Amino acid sequence: MSPAGARAEDPVAGIRRVRVRLGPAVAIAAHHYQRPEIVALADFTGDSYRLAVEAAASRARYIVFCGVRFMAESAAILARPGQEVLIPDPGAGCPMADMIDAGAAAAVLARLDTLTGSEVAPVTYMNSSADMKAVTGARGGSVCTSGNAAAVLSRFLDRGRSVFFSPDRNLGWNTARALGLDGSRVFTVRRDGSIDGTGDPSRAALFLWDGHCHVHRRFTVADLEAARARVPGITVMVHPECDGPVAAAADRTGSTEAILEAVRAGGPGSAWAVGTEAGFVHRLAAAMPDRTVLPLRESYCMNMARIDAAGLYATLRSVEDRLDGGTGPLYHPVTVGVSVREDAARALTAMIDTVAGAR
Ligand code: 13P
Ligand code: SF4
Repeated sequence: MSPAGARAEDPVAGIRRVRVRLGPAVAIAAHHYQRPEIVALADFTGDSYRLAVEAAASRARYIVFCGVRFMAESAAILARPGQEVLIPDPGAGCPMADMIDAGAAAAVLARLDTLTGSEVAPVTYMNSSADMKAVTGARGGSVCTSGNAAAVLSRFLDRGRSVFFSPDRNLGWNTARALGLDGSRVFTVRRDGSIDGTGDPSRAALFLWDGHCHVHRRFTVADLEAARARVPGITVMVHPECDGPVAAAADRTGSTEAILEAVRAGGPGSAWAVGTEAGFVHRLAAAMPDRTVLPLRESYCMNMARIDAAGLYATLRSVEDRLDGGTGPLYHPVTVGVSVREDAARALTAMIDTVAGAR
């Protein structure tokens, strides 16, 4: 049967059958925002940090990455020789990751070097292109995720370095607040080239690029107040991609993995209003029916939802066809050029080393 013909079968049953045949040759990775049927079929799940680390540790010949492109690209950057990373839908992008490109970042960094009279360190959110990670690694900077932004930023700030953080302004701002950074030393660099802030930018600790996640910017302080009025005593936990006032008003902030762990640890009877992708929140509620778990608002990531069982099945069938000696196309390899890969790997490894306490 050709990969295209696979679509006529029930995809979930088909995936289970092919998965058994492929055995350890394939590992399926799924981000927490994936559809429930995809998460149920995955070999490992996690936030973007955990997925990168687990994918890097995997020995599978093919890693099928169910998430958005920057996550699959990060796995491809860290992949072992001979390993291939596939994404069921290469159109699953992240609009925030597209809000800055490597050329713009290099130009901003050169300008900030002149402004501060020092070499500004790039700290780049995982939600970025491989080229952005390469610019970061080539300058001795680091990638970070929402789960380790505070540790990574501290590594540079504690040594007196000024940092250019991109693309998510909210994650940068919320992390600066959590670190107790003086707000007059935090500036926003806008796409029109203007630099906004209250103090002297030549003394800045942190420059934030003006990117955002449209899924997380939908949450408001009024949403928090409504949740607290509806369920007195409810704990509000939001993802740090939310706007500053929302994160400041919440009881807790954290990555998707941290949210999962908090709700788990909350125990039976606990009540949670969660400000992140609503599909994930509904899945938590279904998995832990002895807790009250409500989305702060129904806000969905349609890019994550592009990966479905039919697409995953077609990808696995294309691998099966290859292993059977076929010459049809793989659905769909994620490739990163050698020179980009080396520098990007440096930036990803810097993050992993920081988390491990090695830097
Ligand atoms: P996590 O690293 O917390 O999973 O976040 C990834 C993401 O894209 C959130 O919008
Ligand atoms: Fe990108 Fe936002 Fe979707 Fe996360 S939720 S993948 S940041 S668009």
